[in-house]
Amino acid sequence: MIEHIHGKKHNLIVVGTQWGDEGKAKIIDLLAGHFDIIGRYQGGGNAGHTVVVQGEKYIFHLVPTGILHAGKKVLLGNGMVIHLPTLVTELEQIAARGLSFEDRLVISSRAHVILPSHIQIEKHTEESASSVKIGTTLRGIGPTYEDKIARRGLVMADLLDDERFRDKLEQNTAWKQALASQIYKSTLCSVSAMIEEYRPHISKIRPYIRETSRWLHEQLCAGSNLLCEGAQGTHLDVDHGTYPFVTSSNSTAGGAITGLGIGPCWFDQVLGICKAYVTRVGAGAFPTEDLEQAGETIRQCGHEFGSTTGRPRRCGWFDVPVMRYAVRINGLSALALTKLDVLSGFRKIKICQAYELGSRRLDEFPEYPSSLDQVCPEYIEVEGWLEDISRCRSIEDLPKAARNYLEVVQDLVGVEIAIVSVGPERDQAFYVPSARFFDQFPDLINSN
Ligand code: GDP
Ligand code: IMO
Ligand code: MG
Repeated sequence: MIEHIHGKKHNLIVVGTQWGDEGKAKIIDLLAGHFDIIGRYQGGGNAGHTVVVQGEKYIFHLVPTGILHAGKKVLLGNGMVIHLPTLVTELEQIAARGLSFEDRLVISSRAHVILPSHIQIEKHTEESASSVKIGTTLRGIGPTYEDKIARRGLVMADLLDDERFRDKLEQNTAWKQALASQIYKSTLCSVSAMIEEYRPHISKIRPYIRETSRWLHEQLCAGSNLLCEGAQGTHLDVDHGTYPFVTSSNSTAGGAITGLGIGPCWFDQVLGICKAYVTRVGAGAFPTEDLEQAGETIRQCGHEFGSTTGRPRRCGWFDVPVMRYAVRINGLSALALTKLDVLSGFRKIKICQAYELGSRRLDEFPEYPSSLDQVCPEYIEVEGWLEDISRCRSIEDLPKAARNYLEVVQDLVGVEIAIVSVGPERDQAFYVPSARFFDQFPDLINSN
């Protein structure tokens, strides 16, 4: 039975290394042409994945970014939570822009369904004075994963049978309504209203729902290769992030295994995406946040406003302990660094190389997420550059100070930078051909 793995092509997991919005979609779009299947394995419409192609902007919430590449199959894995109206709207927008998806979209029958009542509950919880305000995207993510873990959730397969759908919805709603009445004194959306709302959507997505673990396995055995599109970021992971200020899924590399239903031996490398600085949306610790002019300059120059909620993102300096942690948790083999262009104009650039916690110096993350609030960043300063670098297409094109910045980051983090992005457009990026990452993906370099 081990035969199936021999002769496999190289498969890749792409993850965010910070607190999300690192530019994952931009890099996935760059790589997608070289893969047969692009799959999401966790999260839902909390993700906002932006790609810009010849001035045209696409923002994906549920559909993998690979949909932009003709002929590529896109997979919504079992680890995801899916809001039907969002999915249908997204598919309609894709079709309206002249892209076909009919023969290349696959949705796991085991993915969980986000109901209107999940979104209602989340709003109540976020507004409640007695619960921790996370600053979520209010897309129903947390309550849907809660139901999944509590074993009362609805999966996509349940939508395929009217009677089963109604039964499960009734059970689920009875429980949640009791909760909402007692705790929030509120009335949730009725079962019949939810059925009414979802019925037309179900008929539209029905053809794409299937058992995807087996499907994927067969595709991989037949020689297809897979690119996994992580959503959120390492420090938003429910197990390894800055708990409780996290999302409710495993956004780290391990999530790809359970969230797609294939074994770890299929994967060869994990590419971590990081910004040249750090941003965070929502509440929670952020040691290198800059609340002065520098943070504001980064926000304006980097257009740091959420792709899903439009909220201003909190901005700060590159944080090496954050990255070292991401290297360990994900087993990163290479980095793609984005938004280097945004740092143009700073005369000096700060990099946090370690933390101070009381009298201790930490060059790794503190043992407990709760201590992150108390750490003080220890910065080094490197020379900045004033030139516009958005037209650079190789390391050699960059000003000396920008090259130096990359070298310092790479040395401190301890993982090679294989890709550098210098603008939102598809072509505003370049590969670093000497990176060992490309030993397994030589086609990427050859096509550059
Ligand atoms: P994701 O969630 O990780 O896919 O990232 P988002 O799409 O939420 O946010 C990244 C934002 O930065 C988007 O608006 C991208 O178009 C933009 N972007 C990506 N890479 C670059 C880059 O190298 N330079 C600049 N200026 N913008 C970029
Ligand atoms: P992409 O894939 C940035 C944040 C929210 C909040 C916390 C929990 O675009 O990088 P949730 O709605 O998931 O329960 O919110 O996680 N968050 C993100 N921040 N990028 C994302 O996705 C995010 N998805 C969730 O702001 O702090
Ligand atoms: Mg985003």
